[in-house]
Amino acid sequence: MIGVESAADQAIVERWIHAGQGHVFRFWDRFGPEEREGLLTQLRRIPLDLVEDLAEKHLQDEVPAGPGRAIEVCQPPPYIPGPTTPGEKAKSALRRKLGEETLAAGRVAVLVVAGGQGTRLGFDGPKGTLPIAPITGKSLFALVAEKVRALGRRHGVVPGLYVMTSPTNHDATIRYFHDANDFRLDPDRLMFFSQKTLPAVDGQGKVLLESPARIFESPDGHGGAVDALAEAGGLERMRRQGVEQVFYCQVDNPLVRIADPLFLGYHIHREAQVSTKVVLKRDVQEKVGILALSGDALQVLEYSDLPAGMANETDEDGHLRFRLGNTAIHVFARSFLERVSSGEFHLPYHMARKKIPTIDEEGNPTVPAEPNGVKFERFVFDLLPYAAKTVLLEARREEEFSPVKNAEGDDSPASARRDLVNLFGRWLGRAGIETPRDEGGNVKGLLEVGPLYALDEEELLLKVDRNLRFEGRLLLDED
Ligand code: UTP
Repeated sequence: MIGVESAADQAIVERWIHAGQGHVFRFWDRFGPEEREGLLTQLRRIPLDLVEDLAEKHLQDEVPAGPGRAIEVCQPPPYIPGPTTPGEKAKSALRRKLGEETLAAGRVAVLVVAGGQGTRLGFDGPKGTLPIAPITGKSLFALVAEKVRALGRRHGVVPGLYVMTSPTNHDATIRYFHDANDFRLDPDRLMFFSQKTLPAVDGQGKVLLESPARIFESPDGHGGAVDALAEAGGLERMRRQGVEQVFYCQVDNPLVRIADPLFLGYHIHREAQVSTKVVLKRDVQEKVGILALSGDALQVLEYSDLPAGMANETDEDGHLRFRLGNTAIHVFARSFLERVSSGEFHLPYHMARKKIPTIDEEGNPTVPAEPNGVKFERFVFDLLPYAAKTVLLEARREEEFSPVKNAEGDDSPASARRDLVNLFGRWLGRAGIETPRDEGGNVKGLLEVGPLYALDEEELLLKVDRNLRFEGRLLLDED
């Protein structure tokens, strides 16, 4: 018998036992008051109905529900390629202007998700604090914040910056910004909010314990951003401030063009609810989500869901048919996010089998050699099928997409730094300042252009002294 003081807590305890999760009280008799209170606090917060529902789906091996998803009938979706003809370039210029006007009118906010655990990177601290700029070592967060400030300087209005954290990195993130004087962003334009967490379950649908008095929980995926933003009052604040479009990106891509006016312009002109930047898939093996159309519903298929036959298919030009890779760079209409948060659409939960550190029968910590549980996550790209109008805009990978996922190799800090240096090298090249290359075509030496010096190539061309010589190391930066 688990005895607790309040009737409300007693009801919760009984509800957990009734749900077949009574093992969470296995060590109750050993606990002191603090441990008991700690466990009860968790039990009061965890949405048990949802956990039961997810565990049931897991036991029945159900695939996540949602519109779209009929993979076998998917078609490659139409997209806007990079402009080549004079007509396309003129159209692009018009769209860019529309985006710039929207920024100048203060109708854009920036949402950066940084609540992930960065397991593959294995960096000690929030991933956003990872030093990344090639010379100054500015962090991923610093680059985001400086880009936002630079946008403010250029368009006369600083877009609001909304940063999603999770309970494990929330305090550390806020401390980091605080110690950096919020990168000189006005606190009124800056908001941090934490996403929710969910327990993981084992093969019998039982929640896993991280320690005798603590249930294991992990962030509920970047798809948790919409509800978390709404609950923190972020959507309401955007509405009050006249924001109509929300530019969304992940913290781990230092090449991202935050609130790119061209992208905003296409999205606004088409009156889209959700837009996505896509890059052409590097090769069949690349582990990137692929855009596909199922009926009217646009969706992202995870690389593991794309059948090999489809992944390998080529068109008459010999290009992969399903070649549009998701960059996780989006624009959302604020009104659409409000409809999502009001419950009009539901993002499905995906299940991922993972090795989850837990405890044995005696309560001793164990680290499993094989996956022992399932985590539940929602993905932001599952909003796509609900959008009546969408835009897919092609971005050139070398200019806009180099995410930091792994400690080494592809998609690592080293590859992202190299891509930054090469990007700045191309900008300088267009100004007539040559940078030597190695046999792989990479710039030899170190090069950095700070966002407040130049947000893009056009700005660099206006500012840079064309008599500059690159002698293996060059930093162009401003405060
Ligand atoms: P990833 O799925 O690549 O996860 O997240 P991660 O945390 O960076 O790394 P791994 O998978 O543990 O190795 C892509 C982006 O989405 C954010 C991450 O912070 C990153 O910016 N994210 C992911 C969240 O904000 N919350 C989540 O629950 C998951």
